[in-house]
Amino acid sequence: MGNVKPDQPRSQSTSAPFADVLAERLSRRQILLGGAAAGALTVMPGFVGSVFADKAYAEGTQSSLTFSELKRVYDQNHHVAPGFKAQVVARWGDAMTKDAPAFDPAAQSAAAQEKQFGYNNDFLAFLPLPLGSNSSDRGLLYANHEYPNPHVMFPGVVTKEDDAGKVATKEQVDIFLASMGGSVVEIAKGGDGWQIVTDSALNRRITSLTPMAISGPAAGHDLLKTAADPTGTKVLGTGSNCGGGLTPWGTVLSCEEFAYEYFGGTPDKAPRAESLKRIGAEGSDYYGIARFHDRFNIDKEPNELNRWQWVVEIDPYDAASVPVKRTALGRFGHEGATVVVNKDGKVVVYQGDDDHKEYLYRFVSAGAFDATNREANRNLLDVGTLSVAKFAAEGTLEWLPLVQGEGPLTAANGFADQASVLIDVRLAADKLGATPMDRPEDFETNPVTGRVYAIMTKSAKRKPENVDATNPRAENKWGHIIELIPPGDGKDADHSATAYKWDILTLCGDPSKAEVGAKFHPGTTADGWFSTPDNMCFDAKGRMWIATDGMNSFDLADGIFGIDTDGPGRGLPKALFAAPTGAEVTGPCFTPDGTTMFVSIQHPGENSETIEKLTTLWPDFKDGMPPRPAVVAITREGGGEIGS
Ligand code: FEO
Ligand code: CA
Ligand code: CA
Ligand code: CA
Repeated sequence: MGNVKPDQPRSQSTSAPFADVLAERLSRRQILLGGAAAGALTVMPGFVGSVFADKAYAEGTQSSLTFSELKRVYDQNHHVAPGFKAQVVARWGDAMTKDAPAFDPAAQSAAAQEKQFGYNNDFLAFLPLPLGSNSSDRGLLYANHEYPNPHVMFPGVVTKEDDAGKVATKEQVDIFLASMGGSVVEIAKGGDGWQIVTDSALNRRITSLTPMAISGPAAGHDLLKTAADPTGTKVLGTGSNCGGGLTPWGTVLSCEEFAYEYFGGTPDKAPRAESLKRIGAEGSDYYGIARFHDRFNIDKEPNELNRWQWVVEIDPYDAASVPVKRTALGRFGHEGATVVVNKDGKVVVYQGDDDHKEYLYRFVSAGAFDATNREANRNLLDVGTLSVAKFAAEGTLEWLPLVQGEGPLTAANGFADQASVLIDVRLAADKLGATPMDRPEDFETNPVTGRVYAIMTKSAKRKPENVDATNPRAENKWGHIIELIPPGDGKDADHSATAYKWDILTLCGDPSKAEVGAKFHPGTTADGWFSTPDNMCFDAKGRMWIATDGMNSFDLADGIFGIDTDGPGRGLPKALFAAPTGAEVTGPCFTPDGTTMFVSIQHPGENSETIEKLTTLWPDFKDGMPPRPAVVAITREGGGEIGS
């Protein structure tokens, strides 16, 4: 997320604050003094230095990551640790098809954008070619495109960031719609590094106008029917595509996060005002889309927004496939949807809802994954149980099923059927007393240990009276990472269990400043600590790789940091990569052999006041060429696994 800045917590959770039970949690924790000074006033008294109950940090510097870390740097360019290379692979505007026009920033059109790599690449996945292979030198790169940055996209068109939606022309609005969604692009690695295969028949743009199907329990529900689609099963487009996930059958899950920003009108006067408020709709029409497209005006088409904010399944291996919005996964501010196959074959999807005081969700499929029959998995994500997390201070958590008719999820409470639960899942989770978190972003399983990690990016609006054991800092400007521990280890972990344990892996921020209350391994260097974690991925050896979003607000570069979650280097981050000014880093992913890490550089130069005052011209550094979001491939000079 970049320019979308939700101001107020929208959660209506009735969960009691944890203050009364925090003492219990503390009493079972070991007291470990690490690199940070204890006693920060913003943290529950006595909490810093005592948050690591399950596994202690070791003494000394013992990372399993072998590289020399990057010195802290923040300027107009990207930087990578000594011994590595970083190559730009695909930029906004790059040709996706043989007939795509060359990118001309002064003569953009929606028609051209539909054939060019989209804007603000976010989640990435590398899908080997051919399908079913383990190739690490040829594959499909899937990229989400989250949102446009109108104030730095059009040379000669001078607007301030917050005014763009008010002044954008119809053509510019249509460029915005064409610039969002996703890209599928074949790439191959040769002597010059990674290159786009422009004549691949698999290359494809998915946009905010691409026809999609709606499936699962809410498909066809009255609340999904519109004038254009009286069936409630078809929708044009996807948007605000932020995080995502990859299924074991080779499809991508693309997450719609803040699509409500596309919508205008007066949601507070609408018949379903409570639902609209809870999903975040303010009628902001941030990009001006509703000025030209009536379906994005809530007053004219009250149900259109019910067809957004879902997870979309896309098959990159079939350029003619119709993307599907999977309603069984629930409707909220989706950050990611990461998949793990449980030991019984059921498919588990972990999902964060990125807003202040929102929740962590888990979907468990009813059916089992079939590794021998790709088609048999096609609709696995349509039937299953969605649950929401409720944490207890004593280090346990419970997954509460969001099932109509159970507990308070009754018709009398506004949930007449399962579709209603899924469409208004935040309201349903409020009723269950789920735990409000500090803006949950990525949420992913360590493939070696079976433990699951949920990133809380930050929540500066958490008040001192609302801190709890899992969100222990008031005015949390730095974020933290929670470890969820299912029963069983590694491949035996039971990701369908009702009860897990939990702990905190790190409290982020500058460990040299006592008032921050950060907590990392004591060997953490001045270059290695990070704040505002957002996305992550794991390498095959189970090391976590964090991408940050928001270090710019501390006048530091966002970047990539590797960190062990287990062993003597647990909680010890090392800096690999720094982004150019204004940019966040998103979507880290590896080739199967672990020798290339792809990362998204999102919104470079977004911190520019207008296009006349650009803070960077990354990555082209050419006059007249605005900054361009792009995918970068990181490799070791001479080859080898990134983390080794
Ligand atoms: Fe799109 Fe939560 O970042
Ligand atoms: Ca994000
Ligand atoms: Ca973010
Ligand atoms: Ca991830």
